Amino acid sequence: MSKQAFPLGKVYSLLEPGPVVLLVTAGAKRPNVMPMSWLTMLEFEPPLVGIVVSQNNYSFGLLAEGKACSLNIPTAELAEQVVGCGNCSGREVDKFARFGLTTRPAQTMAPPLLEQCYASLECRLVDASMAERYNLFVLEVVQALGGPDGQGGANAASPWLWYVHAGLSNEITLPSRMK
Ligand SMILES: Cc1cc2nc3c(=O)[nH]c(=O)nc-3n(C[C@H](O)[C@H](O)[C@H](O)COP(=O)(O)O)c2cc1C
Repeated sequence: MSKQAFPLGKVYSLLEPGPVVLLVTAGAKRPNVMPMSWLTMLEFEPPLVGIVVSQNNYSFGLLAEGKACSLNIPTAELAEQVVGCGNCSGREVDKFARFGLTTRPAQTMAPPLLEQCYASLECRLVDASMAERYNLFVLEVVQALGGPDGQGGANAASPWLWYVHAGLSNEITLPSRMK
């Protein structure tokens, strides 16, 4: 197969993962929410998750200082609000008020959970040693809240959101033997 060099700045479009989650952090004035999709599982149990939060984002400092967050999994109905939350900053805007998102208290930590999301994970920051250099935080999920299936899974009626780079949106489904 013949190949041509392409800009290094486009490499992410081949490799970036999903799904899209809403990261909620606690703040002095109010909590904040931002969508994100650069995340990866690092361990099954206890569940460890690596997330990349840009230092330009207000959420970076709130997570680094508060050392806790919730990861909330939205479904397709929330797509507009999700993108809206990604196009403004909690530095200037109360995104909950602007996008009609409501919260409920978490069981184990200060950052609240998003009511409209079908699953919410309460996470503790366990390693920020690579945050300054790579914007990478390691979280441990300490409480997982999901739907009545007991798996926290979305269903066909309300699928979750995946960030797919434009032009790569064909879907295939394969059986998996993963845990
Ligand atoms: C679908 C989607 C995925 C995103 N993924 C990330 C991500 O993985 N990491 C990140 O730092 N920003 C990501 N962003 C951008 C932030 O959400 C955006 O910069 C936001 O305004 C930051 O809000 P804050 O300043 O209130 O923290 C994403 C945005 C969208 C819409």
